[in-house]
Amino acid sequence: MPMTPAVSPHPDERAPPVDTTAAWRAQHAPNRTPERLRILVTGGAGFIGSNLVDRLMELGHEVIVLDSLFTGKKENIVHWIGHSRFDFIRHDVTERIMLEVDQIYHLACPASPLHYKYNAIKTIKTNVLGTLNMLGLAKRTGARLLLASTSEVYGDPLVHPQPESYWGNVNPIGVRSCYDEGKRVAETLCFDYHRQHNVDIRIARIFNTYGPRMVESDGRVVSNFVGQALRGEELTIFGDGSQTRSFCFVSDLVEGLIRLMNTEAVTGPVNLGNPTEFTVLAAC
Ligand SMILES: NC(=O)c1ccc[n+]([C@@H]2O[C@H](COP(=O)([O-])OP(=O)(O)OC[C@H]3O[C@@H](n4cnc5c(N)ncnc54)[C@H](O)[C@@H]3O)[C@@H](O)[C@H]2O)c1
Repeated sequence: MPMTPAVSPHPDERAPPVDTTAAWRAQHAPNRTPERLRILVTGGAGFIGSNLVDRLMELGHEVIVLDSLFTGKKENIVHWIGHSRFDFIRHDVTERIMLEVDQIYHLACPASPLHYKYNAIKTIKTNVLGTLNMLGLAKRTGARLLLASTSEVYGDPLVHPQPESYWGNVNPIGVRSCYDEGKRVAETLCFDYHRQHNVDIRIARIFNTYGPRMVESDGRVVSNFVGQALRGEELTIFGDGSQTRSFCFVSDLVEGLIRLMNTEAVTGPVNLGNPTEFTVLAAC
């Protein structure tokens, strides 16, 4: 008698089991109110991180800054040291750490090409191991994690402007790959932890940002111009200045990060930056 084969889905279509522990923990964590969350900011002594910390402290939250001080400075957060709602931990995100938190803003990573190329292997370790450690922490505590990704995940884009649905055009073996590909893997890890372990994630793809506490010598356009202007020097323009950039002021970016973190049921990725592009010539 002919046998009817059992119908089973193709292996690619089988849904893996979803771990709901993180969601349960988030709802049952003791000692929390929505008005006073315990918030971890990795890279919180850096340019964007320290501006974010200021805003979170002003909003009345408990803030823990975790930073190796590789490019960040204690001076950026010194005004909060000693405050009862503030802690600073000098720690490298590539090493595991145990904390009890409700939200994690994961910013730790050098952002300027001069800084991330200084030790490329360390940069990719920061992106991969650091993000794994933070996702592990989010999974254990049920915390929501926001990854500070970058427009550099689009690489040398063939589409302008880049919608979030664009997969990019990235060189996997170049001198910038430790950063660009590192951030791409960090995004992948976030989505895999989300699908497999139900970790609540947000991904912000940050475009050029400027403002107080950016490092003067980081080799980027705005800091170069400001530094030269302060020293009374001529402004240096590479090429004919017709190349375009968008520049977002840091307080606007911080507002965007906080809104993304606190919006329900949106994982991103979300592009965050100024939608208007200027030529470098116009910017000076
Ligand atoms: N500034 C921008 O225009 C821009 C654009 C796109 C994305 N981003 C992203 O935003 C984040 C913050 O950028 P930023 O401009 O404030 O840079 P930044 O260099 O000022 O800050 C990064 C912070 O991370 C810390 N850090 C680096 N490696 C670490 C490690 N292994 N362990 C612990 N701490 C570590 C540094 O000490 C520093 O305080 C980065 O993830 C960056 O990729 C920034």
